[in-house]
Amino acid sequence: MDVKEAVASRYSCRAFLPTPVPETVIRDIVERAARAPSAGNMQPWRVYAIAGKRVEELKARLAPRMATELPKGEGVDYTIYPQPMGEPYRTRSFDVGERLYRSIDVPREDKPARYRQYARNYEFFGAPVALFFAREKAHGPAQWADIGGYLQTVALLARGRGLHTCPQQAWVSFHRTVRDFLELPEHLMVYSGMAVGYEDPDAPINGWRSPREPLDAFATFSGFEK
Ligand SMILES: Cc1cc2nc3c(=O)[nH]c(=O)nc-3n(C[C@H](O)[C@H](O)[C@H](O)COP(=O)(O)O)c2cc1C
Repeated sequence: MDVKEAVASRYSCRAFLPTPVPETVIRDIVERAARAPSAGNMQPWRVYAIAGKRVEELKARLAPRMATELPKGEGVDYTIYPQPMGEPYRTRSFDVGERLYRSIDVPREDKPARYRQYARNYEFFGAPVALFFAREKAHGPAQWADIGGYLQTVALLARGRGLHTCPQQAWVSFHRTVRDFLELPEHLMVYSGMAVGYEDPDAPINGWRSPREPLDAFATFSGFEK
């Protein structure tokens, strides 16, 4: 797949088919993604990949807790959204939420239905494979950014294999459970999860795309020859 096509066709997929993905494919993606750049070539990413029974086990640990513990969960161990978010970021974030819930006919006021959809995060949206990206607690913003680049490289390589992904910081809200489940060493913490698998093309939740600002809203150019 052409790189432009991989970038253009990546989106956060929120309904997967149960079709399993071979371990060799996931290993290949995780290995190749390490060509991502990192400051000083530190390669600060740590990856935990789970599939099959392991995925089901983690889902089963959380399923009975969904009705009572959402949206707070175990509380986050790092702040995902700045408070306040400020403009124009708040509007963009609000807009994408609206589009998501509209695609499945859930009105804004219907909190229980919203939570039910949100809880699908903790089923990996039906994906057969999940990745967790962990980081050294002692590392700083530059290493977080490097892991972001690694995560996107995984998402693009997955496209090259006909797979889709959804990055999932939702897992940070259950960081204690995830730590325990992955037997994460004390010096690491989870930055994000990611669902990986084959998209369900018929699922309405996969039938919309998040918008982007026009080029001139976020980039300036100078010095180029006309
Ligand atoms: C690090 C990271 C974590 C995310 N966590 C979640 C999540 O927990 N659940 C979810 O449904 N989407 C999650 N998203 C997806 C974003 O909402 C999505 O990337 C954004 O709305 C743009 O849409 P697109 O990915 O479809 O282009 C996450 C994205 C990133 C980069």
